[in-house]
Amino acid sequence: MEDALVDKSVDKEFPVFSPGLEGVIAATSSICDLSDTGDILYRGYSIQDLAKNATYEEVAYLLLLGKLPNRKELKKFTSELARKRALPDGVASIIHKLPKNSHPMDVLRTGVSLLGLYDGKHQETSKEANLERAKNLIAQVPVLLTDFYRYARVLKSIGADKTLNNAENLLYMLTGKHPNDLSAKVFNVSMILYAEHELNASTFSARVTASTLTDIYSTITSAIGTLRGPLHGGANEAVAKMLLEIGDVSKAEAWVRAALSRKQRVMGFGHRIHRTAEDPRSAIIKRYARELGENTGKTKWYDICTAIEDEMHKQKNLYPNLDLYTAVVYLLMGIPIELYTPIFVCSRLAGWSAHVIEQQENNRLIRPRSIYTGPKNLQYLQLDERS
Ligand code: SDX
Repeated sequence: MEDALVDKSVDKEFPVFSPGLEGVIAATSSICDLSDTGDILYRGYSIQDLAKNATYEEVAYLLLLGKLPNRKELKKFTSELARKRALPDGVASIIHKLPKNSHPMDVLRTGVSLLGLYDGKHQETSKEANLERAKNLIAQVPVLLTDFYRYARVLKSIGADKTLNNAENLLYMLTGKHPNDLSAKVFNVSMILYAEHELNASTFSARVTASTLTDIYSTITSAIGTLRGPLHGGANEAVAKMLLEIGDVSKAEAWVRAALSRKQRVMGFGHRIHRTAEDPRSAIIKRYARELGENTGKTKWYDICTAIEDEMHKQKNLYPNLDLYTAVVYLLMGIPIELYTPIFVCSRLAGWSAHVIEQQENNRLIRPRSIYTGPKNLQYLQLDERS
C-alpha cells in the first residue's frame, strides 16, 4: 500500500485511497453477511433456507425488525402491508400526468418523493417513524409501479387484491390475472434474493443520505437513482435486451466474443464481491429459470445463458450475478422488460430501509476524504491579463 493519507483534523492515520472504495470497510452492520463461505446471510439466516421456505413478507420483517416473525406477528405484518396497498389521491392524479413514455424507474424516483410530500410528517426519523414509512413504501411502491404502467398503456387500473401476498399481488396488479403456483413461487424467490446485499452502491447511497439525518423518503429517492445505472440494478433489463438480440443459442458464443473484442461489458456477469465464484443467489434463481423453462416448454433463454456463461468463464473467468437468470425468469413470465429494475426496487425497499434505520440508530455523518490532484499556488490574474 502507498503512504497512508494523514488526516490532520485528527491524530490518526487513515487507509490509502482505493478506487471505487474497493475493499474499504465503511460501516459495521448486523443486516447482511456476505461471508466468504459461499453463502449469504440475512440477519444470520441463509438465503438458501429463506428462498426455499419464506415469503417476501417474512424476509422483509426479518430485515426490518431483526428476527423471523412468529405466526401471529407475520399475520399482523402481512395484513398491515395489504391494507396499505393504495396511493394517496393526489399522488395518483400527478402520476397520471407524467409523460406516458417515462421510464418506470424515473416514475418510482418521482413517486417516492411525492409519497413523502403527501405523508405530511415525513421529517420524523425515529425508528418507529422509519419502520412505519418503510411498511408504507413496501406496500405502495408496487401500486405506484403497476398503476403508472397501466395508465401509460391506456389500460384500466387494477386495484390491489388484499388476499394475495406481496409478490403475487404485484403480478396481479400488473396483469389482472392471478399467477399460477410456479410463477408465484419463483417471483417470490426473486424478490427474496433482491431484498438485500450489504453495502452495494444503492444501499451505500441510502446510508450516506441517512447519515445527514434527513427523512427516509429522501434516502430511498437517492437509492432509486443509484440503482438505475446499468452497472447496478439496470443490468437485469440489459440482460433481457442482450438475450433478445442474440436470439438463438447457436449465436451466443460469437456474440460474446464480439462484445469482448469491443471491450463491452456483458451484463449479468461479474461482481465487486463475488469475484472468484458464482454469486450464490445466481445458483438459486438459475434452478428456477430452468424449471420454469421446462414447465413452459421455452428453454431457449436458459440455453442461451448457459452458453454465454461457458464463454464468459472461458474468456474472462467471470461468473454470473443475480441479474442473468432473473432476466430469464422475468422473460418467461412475460413481465415487460422496463419493469425489471423497478421490481428490484420493490424488493430492495426492505434492505434499504433496514440500513437507513441501522444508520440513524447509531449515526455518524459519512464524510470520506479525497486526495487532491489539481494544481496549487496559482496566481490570480485580472480578466484582461488572461489569455
Ligand atoms: C448488482 O454490489 C452489489 O451487491 C450489487 C448487487 C446487489 O444485489 O445490490 O449484487 C446487484 O449490481 C449486480 C451487478 C450487476 N451489474 C452487471 O451485471 C453489469 C456488468 N458487470 C460489471 O460491469 C462489473 O462486473 C461490476 C460493475 C458488477 C463489478 O465491477 P468491478 O468490481 O468494478 O470490476 P472491474 O470493473 O474492476 O472489472 C475487473 C475486470 C476488468 O477487466 P480488465 O479491464 O482488468 O481486463 O473484469 C472485467 C473488467 O473489464 N469485467 C467484465 C465484466 N465485469 C468485469 N468484462 C466483461 N463483462 C463484464 N460484465
